[in-house]
Amino acid sequence: MSSRRELLLEEMGLTPIWRLRTRQAESTTTAAQVQNVPAAAGRGDGAAPAVPRPAIDARDANIARMGWGELRASVAACTACGLRKTCTQTVFGIGDEKADWLLVGEAPGAEEDARGEPFVGQAGRLLDAMLAGIDLKRGEDVYIANVLKCRPPGNRNPEAPEVAKCAPYLRRQVELIRPRLILAMGRFACQTLLDTESSIASLRGRAHSYQGVPLVVTYHPAYLLRSLQDKAKAWEDLCYARSTMADLRAQSGSGAPAH
Ligand code: URA
Repeated sequence: MSSRRELLLEEMGLTPIWRLRTRQAESTTTAAQVQNVPAAAGRGDGAAPAVPRPAIDARDANIARMGWGELRASVAACTACGLRKTCTQTVFGIGDEKADWLLVGEAPGAEEDARGEPFVGQAGRLLDAMLAGIDLKRGEDVYIANVLKCRPPGNRNPEAPEVAKCAPYLRRQVELIRPRLILAMGRFACQTLLDTESSIASLRGRAHSYQGVPLVVTYHPAYLLRSLQDKAKAWEDLCYARSTMADLRAQSGSGAPAH
């Protein structure tokens, strides 16, 4: 392992476990082990509410036709749920609009709400270190977005009607970016995008699909800040995502980013 990677893993708090598990983690980069993980509380771990699925209405159809500029303006002006009344600003998403990698989290927290950018707080710093561990960098072939574009007050769990109103925005972002792979982070994003109540533990280690885009699940960085044990599993997930990306690129005959 290069000393740079060792430093990054140390920053993620992973080095001792990584040293013990190097062989296992490397050999599971195409099929990370599924392990039982007890549910934990807090941002990134809350069970996703069952999202009502109305037939596509005029608003959804309108959003589904938008380009980037219109979509950005529509999110900024959105009052479809009550969250805009309590948040400072909307947090649209950031990064390379032609990225192969799309990372999806839950909703802005306090720092994201203040700065208008996803994952800029403590969890974001861990996310940046995780990305660096697989040679990725925010903004370079990576786009970062959340299921919800507005911060729920006090970081409470998102509610089903809020998710239903915000879902068309993420759906359109996915259509515009056309990423090769989505990395869904945390129980809420995973359950919402996959329309399931299954635990992250049971969803790990294989590729799922969201709108025809391969989707890999992992734990939420905010949760990982509290769980050293699951940091090692998250590292396995990242290795699995990286090898899935390599397979996808090989299948399409390009070792390089898609766009
Ligand atoms: N948690 C999230 O899910 N998203 C953010 O942008 C920040 C924290």
